[in-house]
Amino acid sequence: MATTLITNIGELFTSDPEGPLTIAGAALVVDGTQVAWVGRAAEAPDADELVDVGGRAVIPGFVDSHSHLVFAGDRAEEFAARMAGTPYAAGGIRTTVAATRAATDEQLTSHVARLVAEMRCQGTTTVEIKSGYGLTVHDEARSLAVARQFTEETTYLGAHVVPGGTTPEEYVALVTGPMLDAAKEHARWIDVFCERGAFDADQARAILAAGEAAGLRGRLHANQLTYGDGVRLAAELGLVAVDHCTYLSDADVAALRDSGTIATLLPGVEFSTKQPYPDTRRLLDAGVDVALASDCNPGSCFTSSIPLCIALAVREMGMTPAEAVHAATYVGARALDRDDVGALVPGRRADLVVLDAPSHLHLAYRPGVPLVAATWVGGRPV
Ligand code: NIG
Ligand code: FE
Repeated sequence: MATTLITNIGELFTSDPEGPLTIAGAALVVDGTQVAWVGRAAEAPDADELVDVGGRAVIPGFVDSHSHLVFAGDRAEEFAARMAGTPYAAGGIRTTVAATRAATDEQLTSHVARLVAEMRCQGTTTVEIKSGYGLTVHDEARSLAVARQFTEETTYLGAHVVPGGTTPEEYVALVTGPMLDAAKEHARWIDVFCERGAFDADQARAILAAGEAAGLRGRLHANQLTYGDGVRLAAELGLVAVDHCTYLSDADVAALRDSGTIATLLPGVEFSTKQPYPDTRRLLDAGVDVALASDCNPGSCFTSSIPLCIALAVREMGMTPAEAVHAATYVGARALDRDDVGALVPGRRADLVVLDAPSHLHLAYRPGVPLVAATWVGGRPV
């Protein structure tokens, strides 16, 4: 395997398991697909190839642990109405379900390809993709089969909303029965939208238990639109992550701290729904681990940009830029129970981003500016 020395790195943000760590005047050696060495450029070992990044910053590729990319149509009109004062409601999901069912496999695949490419241009190197806009046995299974062409991190979200023409009881039976049977071969995870207008905590508990019995691991959307039992359910079940966490009681924060469940915050949603941003300091100060993800979807948040999420987390949620980058890389990887990506330390996959900037601070300092000069996956530029 050839080795590559990436040198003249103005600032290397390693996103260490120990916490955000930066090295000035750094270099990094890639051996095959993995990081083999990081340190001061002056001490770097020899390698077969040399890449000089001209003083730019290098950070790990982003790990976006929450997205809904398999869909058709858009809901720009709904967004415009929201900006004029109409509140976000879970029921809008059904509009996208109708468009998704009407789309061909080829249309869905090319749409996901376009969004994944968009993400990659913005530095995302690992992405989780959910189903959830099919809501029939056939449409959930094909949504997951499409997602699997792009990532191993696929999530069965048949329990997104109860579709028209069925009762909640009938639908939960479908989600935990024939739909799960058809979905499980294409999915690693199972998720439930536990929220007013979607599924309650008892339904979520039953759906996650069925998923676990079928070999899928649980995750949860919870406390997005209102206070509720979802976050405490996630903690009680010891899920690796619970996502949204916009409305949290003190008991929710304590439960997360005690269980070690990661709170995945999705600031693009608050931006696009005009909801209040979650208070990240309250979580971090309590000892809860926080991840950041995009939640890219046509309804509550149609951005694929982790740099935007980082800028929002810093400006609106009290995170330092270093905490925000760490949350979108190392902690994002943990939220997917991955220890092979998310940090630039020896042994991890060489997934990295070269920024057209001298430091990671610029991700928040220069919001909306395309700062990604290059994205590398598995030791090669893509
Ligand atoms: O994560 N919360 C549930 N699902 C998506 C929104 C889906 C939609 O509005 O289409 C979310 O915000
Ligand atoms: Fe979501």
